[in-house]
Amino acid sequence: MAEFKVDARGPIEIWTIDGEGRRNAISRAMLAEFQGMVARVSQGHDTRVVILTGAGDKAFCAGADLKERGTMSEAEVRAFLEGLRHTLRALEKSDCVFIAALNGAALGGGTELALTCDLRVAAPAAELGLTEVRLGIIPGGGGTQRLTRLVGPGRAKDLILTGRRLNAAEAFSLGIVNRLAPEGHLLDTAFSLAESIVENAPIAVATAKHAIDDGVSLALDDALALELKHYEKVLTTEDRLEGLKAFAEKRKPVYQGR
Ligand code: COA
Repeated sequence: MAEFKVDARGPIEIWTIDGEGRRNAISRAMLAEFQGMVARVSQGHDTRVVILTGAGDKAFCAGADLKERGTMSEAEVRAFLEGLRHTLRALEKSDCVFIAALNGAALGGGTELALTCDLRVAAPAAELGLTEVRLGIIPGGGGTQRLTRLVGPGRAKDLILTGRRLNAAEAFSLGIVNRLAPEGHLLDTAFSLAESIVENAPIAVATAKHAIDDGVSLALDDALALELKHYEKVLTTEDRLEGLKAFAEKRKPVYQGR
C-alpha cells in the first residue's frame, strides 16, 4: 500500500504522508517509500520544490511508529535509525527545496523531519517537540544537531532536556517556523512560498541552499571561501546572463536551469 499521496503541480510536488490512523508516524514501510521518493526528485531536475505534509489535521508526523517499534529488536532499531539518518541527509543534499507544511503535531522524528526540510510553514494548531527523553531515548534522527544549529545550544537544551511541546506561535517566535499560515490556508501559504522560490533561477536556488547548509558549521573565513566556490557555479550559467538581460529589458526573466 502506498504510504504517501503525491500531487504534482508542474515543478512543485505536494507529498502527503497517508497514515492518519497512526498519526502519520514513520514506519519502516513509510521510510522505504520516502527514501525512494527523495532519490527520485534528487536525480531529476523537473521537481524543484516539495511540500511535505501529513494527512488529517491532528498530526504532521507523530515520530517513529511506536507500535512497530515495540516489536523491533535493538538491531532492527539501529537499522531503522541508519535508514532514517541516511534519508534525511539525502533530502538536505538534494537540489530540491523541501518545505514542511505542519498541519498538526510534529513530535520526535516528526520534528526531526520538519527540521531537515529547508523551510517550515505551520497551521495555527501545529505543535512541535523533541519529546524523546520522555520515552527514555534521545533524538536519533539528527534532532540534537539540527535544532542546535537552528536556534543555538541554550534554546535547544531548553527544548530537548524538558521534552516540552511548542505551539506554532512559539515555534515561529524562535525562528523554527518560517511562516504562520492563517486557519484553513496551510497549503495555500506553503504553495505561494514554493512559487516564490520556483520563479528564481534553478541553479542559483540550489547553489544558495548548499552554500548555506555547507557553510553553517565552518569558521567564517572558511565559510566565505566556500561561498566563493559556490558562486563560481552560477557565474558561468546562461541564467545569469538571462537575469541581466531581463533587467535591462525591464521584463521578468525566463530561466532555463542552464
Ligand atoms: N506511533 C504509532 N501510532 C501512533 C503514534 C506513533 N508515534 N502516535 C499516535 N499513534 C496512534 C495511537 O496509538 C492511536 O491509535 P489507536 O487508534 O489504534 O489507539 C492513534 O494514533 C490516534 O492517537 P491519539 O493519541 O488518540 O491521537 P490524538 O490526535 O489525540 O493525538 C498525537 C495525536 C500525535 C499528539 C498523539 O498521538 C501523541 O502524542 N503521539 C505520540 C507521539 C510521540 O511520543 N512520538 C514519539 C516521540 S519519540
